Amino acid sequence: MSTLTEAIDERRTFAIISHPDAGKTTLTEKLLLFGGAIQMAGAVRARGEQRRARSDWMAIERERGISVTASVMSFEHDGLSFNLLDTPGHEDFSEDTYRTLTAVDSAVMVLDAAKGIENQTRKLFEVCRLRNVPIISFINKVDREGRETFDLLDEIEKSLALDVCPMTWPIGMGRDLKGVYDLTRNQVLLFDQTRGDTIPEGIDMPLEDSRLDDLVGAEAAAKLREEVELVQGACPAWDLEAYRAGHLSPVFFGSALRNFGVAELLGGIGRLAPRPRPQPTQGRTVEPTEEKVSGFVFKIQANMDPNHRDRIAFFRMCSGRFKRGMKLKHVRSGKLIAMVNPVFFLARDRALAEEAFPGDILGIPNHGSLRIGDALTEGEDLRFTGIPSFAPELLRRVRLDDPMKAKQLRKALEDLAEEGVSQLFKPINGATWIVGVVGQLQFEVIANRIESEYNLKAGFEEAPFDTARWISSDNPDQLKKFIEANTSSMAEDRDDAPVFLARNAWTLNRAQQDFPEIRFSNTREQH
Ligand code: G4P
Repeated sequence: MSTLTEAIDERRTFAIISHPDAGKTTLTEKLLLFGGAIQMAGAVRARGEQRRARSDWMAIERERGISVTASVMSFEHDGLSFNLLDTPGHEDFSEDTYRTLTAVDSAVMVLDAAKGIENQTRKLFEVCRLRNVPIISFINKVDREGRETFDLLDEIEKSLALDVCPMTWPIGMGRDLKGVYDLTRNQVLLFDQTRGDTIPEGIDMPLEDSRLDDLVGAEAAAKLREEVELVQGACPAWDLEAYRAGHLSPVFFGSALRNFGVAELLGGIGRLAPRPRPQPTQGRTVEPTEEKVSGFVFKIQANMDPNHRDRIAFFRMCSGRFKRGMKLKHVRSGKLIAMVNPVFFLARDRALAEEAFPGDILGIPNHGSLRIGDALTEGEDLRFTGIPSFAPELLRRVRLDDPMKAKQLRKALEDLAEEGVSQLFKPINGATWIVGVVGQLQFEVIANRIESEYNLKAGFEEAPFDTARWISSDNPDQLKKFIEANTSSMAEDRDDAPVFLARNAWTLNRAQQDFPEIRFSNTREQH
């Protein structure tokens, strides 16, 4: 049995961030292969039949060929326990994606060698930067013609303002790919164009060794020597602290599809990525080595398995040694909750979690008592910070096709809002509810889920609002006055917090000018 400190040292909890099509799914699959026994939840896209079987709880994933919901996969390799949290990479994504990044200690940024930094990568990167999440870069698809290696590094450096330090270096690219050179170990990994999923052994080979010319050809060897000299002059030296602080990114090159360079990447995550980090709460920082268990819920998913109408809270362990059966305090309600059936991880393959450590993600089945942002502890009233609600960028009115079912619809919308899929706003003048989301696709997801999980037909119509802001003020009179002056634009969120629905940017601006004592916030911390 490991001690708490040993268990923490062994854990790496990370996410992969990328733009659609960069190869995140393929890379995830290959990483899981190293783990042997795969525990996964829902979203890894397997091919053909398998793919249908795994994602069948959500028809829209199948139709679109994308995974809409984030999930968690745990695997072990080389004495370490990895928890990989999936972040949907498609363009329309929900707050889930952001919140998932609050539950990781580091991230792998996958870039397509032909495309470099793309939109979605940049967005997700910005979220990581807000929290100084350390980032390892993986430049994928070197088995295809890509852009100049130096160009790609330059782009990361300039457009993300992030220093880079290559750990491996490609020997050729595309049709001429000969392998990669491991700069930390001075080894050559040869690429066999006909290879399958076997992992090549590194060959010890100092750059100046003349046998390198025989291995990869004189021309490629000369180019490699020249490039390595150049890159070592141009890039900062490796600095673990700078990486851990989020200022410098180690770069690996490879091909997820051909499982090439992936072992080096995984080795790099093991060696470089931080173990579970201390977590900020209101008032103090929680160290993972603290004896008492604490953690927070970063995601809720309802109805994962259509056979059980259950709801799972994804709980990130922040400190202590968890044991099944223990009772934890639900800080928001003050109640004790017995951890009878916590699971390691989820959907098709659920395994009861007998014991868990900081960095681990537990699935806690519940009937709606747990919400995003909730803390569970062994008694202390901790409030973890930095798990925000975002103001939705799109607002729509709900249309119910059968008015007799209004109550059921309300339940469905509240459930989904609780999951963090969407925001639900109830206009104070009694008008039809407004649903807000961060990305357009979420409306389809919601309509689809309402139909399949609640057996209701509902749609969404244009709403006369453009944007939503939570309002607050230190002056209660002003707040009251503002609400009275804007009754047709005022709503309450699911916690009854007041929300101003603005018709457009101009009205928002005007309201801000007219009521300088009111704060208009586009995020709201949970609770
Ligand atoms: P995503 O999750 O980031 O969206 O990307 P995904 O892994 O689905 O990969 C997108 C496409 O890129 C897939 O091709 C995949 O096979 C391909 N790909 C991934 N890694 C590599 C690589 O290292 N080299 C090359 N040459 N291709 C790679 P597809 O044709 O869209 O899908 P499929 O028909 O292969 O399923």
